[in-house]
Amino acid sequence: MRLDRAASIDDLRAMAKRRIPRFAFDLVDGGAESERNMRRNAEAFEEIELTPRYMTDVGRIDTRARVLGQDFDLPFGMAPIGMLNAFWPEADVTLARLCKRANMPYVASSAASTTLERLAEAADGNGWFQLYVSADQGVTDGLVDRAEAAGYPVMMVTADVPAAGKRDRDIRNQLAVPFKFTPEVMVQLAMNPRWSLESAAHGKPNIANYADLLKAATSYADVQKTLITPSFDWEDLKRLRARWKGKLLVKGILHAEDAAKCAELGCDGVVVSNHGGRQVAFGPPTIEALPAIADRVAGRMAVLVDSGIRRGADLLRAKALGADFCLTGRALAFGVGAGGAKGAERALDILRLELERALGQLGAGSFDAVGPEALSRPR
Ligand SMILES: Cc1cc2nc3c(=O)[nH]c(=O)nc-3n(C[C@H](O)[C@H](O)[C@H](O)COP(=O)(O)O)c2cc1C
Repeated sequence: MRLDRAASIDDLRAMAKRRIPRFAFDLVDGGAESERNMRRNAEAFEEIELTPRYMTDVGRIDTRARVLGQDFDLPFGMAPIGMLNAFWPEADVTLARLCKRANMPYVASSAASTTLERLAEAADGNGWFQLYVSADQGVTDGLVDRAEAAGYPVMMVTADVPAAGKRDRDIRNQLAVPFKFTPEVMVQLAMNPRWSLESAAHGKPNIANYADLLKAATSYADVQKTLITPSFDWEDLKRLRARWKGKLLVKGILHAEDAAKCAELGCDGVVVSNHGGRQVAFGPPTIEALPAIADRVAGRMAVLVDSGIRRGADLLRAKALGADFCLTGRALAFGVGAGGAKGAERALDILRLELERALGQLGAGSFDAVGPEALSRPR
């Protein structure tokens, strides 16, 4: 299928699936255990109904949004994704540049396959930095200092990784560190020659920010210890708040009490997120967790949401339920997988056009104007 025939993010996902070896496609497409949480994220968004109002003159549509003191042309940004160059070569930089052109935020992951310095340059003022708290405080502080030196105005600390998610597809695919060329992998590579050639040309992707530290890693457990820790707690967050001078977001919040605590500690916002359903299969979809959190902290801090956003209208559903801003991970990633830079642009066009159309259809005219009164079933 040609990119211009892709009508939806799901179409781009199907295209990506056809040209990426299964082990690499599953790395991005998969969720935790039964993947129930991942499926529910998208379903729960779809279930939220908004009632259109007509004859409101929507001749001008305004998709702009302001968050954390920054003005963006779109009310969503690119969520942090680790190791995305394994999905498609140069995916990180491609998306960072796209976000700059579209004037939306690009969140560089701690675990990105490109260094945070190079991504700050590619995003050129539109970059935010996502931090994983390491078991080694020196590693964490090193990243925070590098992010400050690179000029990121916003840091997003990810809280929802006291343990790595159990992703059954990755276990079945026998994804190992270091990567092994099993006979099964060789067959998948042969079946996807374009991906294999481009990947070979760009070299094996790694977790660039920790490249030196991870050279000695011989197992996934070693990698995990460098990246995350089960010991991250409120005292650590307090310490990070004191150390980081810019805006601070906490990502992966699902409980209103936790959000309130973030506000008390002086954080500037939370991202209501379940990591795209990659952490726990038993958790709630984010759009259902959002209202209680927004009720609790709205006005005191920014409320962002991600996980399951696949349509422009999902951004309006989130806004109606209390979000100030959204992130999307896989939607733009599938675009890159479907067609590199052009595919990423196609994904963004789809979301933008859906958003503009939905704003008109709803009779709202601007993202800012959407509120709880748009909900068909008042809360
Ligand atoms: C392949 C993959 C890697 C991810 N890596 C990170 C990461 O390094 N740091 C992080 O905070 N979140 C990470 N996430 C979660 C995303 O930031 C985001 O919360 C999630 O993708 C949102 O759900 P969606 O994909 O349905 O939009 C990752 C998600 C995916 C799919």
